[in-house]
Amino acid sequence: MDRAAAEIRIANLVPELNRHSHLYHTLDAAEIDDRTYDLMYRELELLEMRFPDLVRSDSPTLKVGGGAVSELAEFVHRIPMLSLANAFSSEEIADFDGRCRKNLGDDAPEAITYVVEPKLDGLAAELVYERGTLVGAGTRGDGKVGEDILHTVKTIRAIPSKLLGDRVPDRIAVRGEIFFDLAGFEAMNARRVARGEKAFENPRNAAAGAVRQLDPAVAAERPLTFKCHSFGEVEGFEMPDTHSAQLQVLAGWGLPINELNQSATGADAVNAAIAHLGSLRHGLPYEIDGAVVKVDSIPLQAALGFITRSPRWAVAYKYPPPQVHTLLQAVGFQVGRTGAITPVAHLRPARVGGVTVSRATLHNEDQVRQLDLRVGDTVVIERAGDVIPRVVRAVDDAAHASRPPVTFPTVCPECGSPVDREGDQAVLRCTNALACPAQLRAGLRHFASRGAMDIEGLGSKLVDQLVDAGLVRRLSDLYRLTYEQLVSLDRMGSKSAENLLEALEKSKGRPLERVLTALGIRDVGEATARDLSQHFHTIDALSAASRDDFAGVSGIGPVVAERVAAFFADPRHRGEIDALRELGVRFPEVEEGERITGGVDLGGQVFVLTGTLPTMDRNEAKKRILAAGGKVTGSVSKKTDYLVAGEAAGSKLTKAEELGVTVIDEAGLVALLAGV
Ligand code: IVH
Repeated sequence: MDRAAAEIRIANLVPELNRHSHLYHTLDAAEIDDRTYDLMYRELELLEMRFPDLVRSDSPTLKVGGGAVSELAEFVHRIPMLSLANAFSSEEIADFDGRCRKNLGDDAPEAITYVVEPKLDGLAAELVYERGTLVGAGTRGDGKVGEDILHTVKTIRAIPSKLLGDRVPDRIAVRGEIFFDLAGFEAMNARRVARGEKAFENPRNAAAGAVRQLDPAVAAERPLTFKCHSFGEVEGFEMPDTHSAQLQVLAGWGLPINELNQSATGADAVNAAIAHLGSLRHGLPYEIDGAVVKVDSIPLQAALGFITRSPRWAVAYKYPPPQVHTLLQAVGFQVGRTGAITPVAHLRPARVGGVTVSRATLHNEDQVRQLDLRVGDTVVIERAGDVIPRVVRAVDDAAHASRPPVTFPTVCPECGSPVDREGDQAVLRCTNALACPAQLRAGLRHFASRGAMDIEGLGSKLVDQLVDAGLVRRLSDLYRLTYEQLVSLDRMGSKSAENLLEALEKSKGRPLERVLTALGIRDVGEATARDLSQHFHTIDALSAASRDDFAGVSGIGPVVAERVAAFFADPRHRGEIDALRELGVRFPEVEEGERITGGVDLGGQVFVLTGTLPTMDRNEAKKRILAAGGKVTGSVSKKTDYLVAGEAAGSKLTKAEELGVTVIDEAGLVALLAGV
C-alpha cells in the first residue's frame, strides 16, 4: 500500500475504531465483535508502523479504552491500568517469546518461564485496600481515570472487605476481572424472564451494567464474582520477585485468584498450556475469551518494560470465536452516511455464541467476490462476544457452482442514483449525497450527535420520522422546523416539541470545530475538524482556502486536503453553509484565547520515551510531540534525536548513553515544546 492509500485507510480506521471503542467501553453497546475490532486495530498498527508520520493524535493506539462517563464519580488509577497486545496463533506466541528473548539480549535465560492464565471476559476493576480494609474500587475507564464503583463492589461476595492475616500492605491496588459465572447468569436471566423483564444478551455486558449501577441494591441482585490477576501500587510491603509468587501472596490475603493458572517454560510449553486451557474452555463455569501469557520473573518484566499501551512482557492469546453453519437466504444492501453501499447477509436464524443471528455484515464487494458467496449457499458464521457477526466462508457443495453470483447494484438501492467506485477501491458509493434519503438520515444522525451539534432529543427514530414526513430534506431544514410541524408527528407531545426546538436553538452556538465535524465532510472527524478550525479560525477563511492551503495544515495530508477542498468548492455545500448561517448557526470565530499557540515545529525529530515522567503521562507526552511535528518510536537507535527519560528509566537510558543520544527529562521536553 502506498502512502496516499495508507493515509485514506488510516483516516477511515481511526474514527471507526474510536467509535467502536466508545460503544464497547462506555456505552456497553458494541456493534462489532471483538475479533473484527482486533483485526482493524492490528491493521492500523501495521500502517502506523510503516508510516510513522501518519500517526494521528486521535489514534486509538495512543490510548487504552474508553473514557469514564456517567453519573458515577471519577476514580483515578495512581498507576495506569494497561491493556495487552493480542496474538491469534501459536506462531504469534513463538514470535512473542522470540521478541522477549531478543529484547532481553544477554540477560535472557536459556528459556523464559511464563505464567499462562485464563483471560476472563468480564469487566476490569481495581480494588484499593488500606491497612487491609477495602476503601476504594474503580473501573478501568481510559486506563488513568475510571468510574468509582465501590458501592457496587461491596455487594460482591468474592471480594473480601478485609484482607486476611496481619502482614498486609499499608496500601495495595489489586486488579482483576469482575464477571458472571454462567450458572449465576442463567439463573438471573430465568428470574428476570419470570418477572417479565428482558433477559441479558451476554455476561460481559450484564456485568458491566451491574457494576455501573448507581443503586447498589440492583447490583446486589446480580450474582457477580471476581478473580484477581495483578496489582498496581503497593506501599509498605515487599512483594516477591515472580508473578506466580505474588499471586500466592494475594491468595494468602483471601483474594480469589484463578485456579487454572499454569506455569510454562519456553514457547512450546506455553502453546501446550494454551491448548490445554482451550480444551477445558467450554466446560468452564465462566466465559474466557483467551489466555494471558506473562513473563514470570519480575526483574525480567522490568527489563522488558512497556510500549505506549501495553507491557512488552505479556500478550493475550485470543481463542478463535465460535462458528456455526447456516443458510445464506439473500444479500441486501445498506447505504451509509458517506454513501458507502455495504452488502449485508440475510441468514436463516442460527444460534451462535449464545445469541440468535439473522444478519451479518459483508463489508464490501471484494469480500463477497473473494468468498464467492452465492444466495442458497450454506455459510460458516462466527460471533466473538458481541453483536454483529461475520460470514467466514461458504461451505463447498455440489450445487454452489450452479447458483448465480451475487449481483451488485448499479444504482443506489435507496434513491436510484448512479453509483461510483473511486479508483480501485472496493467501496461502491451512492453519488447523490444528501439528496439520497439514506445518506440524509445518517448525515442528520451524525449532525445531531454528541461530538457534533449535540442536539438532545434528536435520535434515530425522530430523524426517520422527519425525513419520511418530508419535513427535512437537508441539514439546514432542521432549523426551519416549527412547533406545529413537530407536534403533528406521531408520538410527539408539546413538551418534547418545545424541548427539541430549544435544543436546536442551543446548538446554533456550537464552536467552529464542532460545526465542521457536524457537516460530515468525508474523513474529517473531530481531530481534523479541530486542526482545521485552529488553523483557519473562521468559516470564511475555510471557504476561501485552496487545496494547497489545506495541505499546509499540520496533521492533514494531500488526500484529506483534496477532499476538504472539494467539499468547500461544491456549490451545494456552500449553499448549505449559507443557509445554516441565515438560520442562525453562528460558526463562531476561534478567538485569540482559544487558539493553541506556542507551535514549535520539531521537524520530524525522533523521540523515545522511557520511565515515569513526574507530571505528564507517556501518552500525553507522545501526543504533544506528535502535535508539534516530532516522531515517537519505541526503541533507541542511532536515528533517535532525544530520549525523554523519567524515573526508573532502564535499558533504553543505557543504550542512549552508549549511542550518545541526547537525554532530556520532562522539564527539558516542556522547554523544547515551548520553543525555548
Ligand atoms: S493482566 C498489564 N491477566 O484483559 C497487564 N489481564 O487486554 C494487565 N484480563 O484489561 C492485565 N484476564 O482486564 C491480565 N489473567 C489476566 C486477565 C486480564 C482478563 C483483561 C484485563 C485487561 C485486558 C487486557
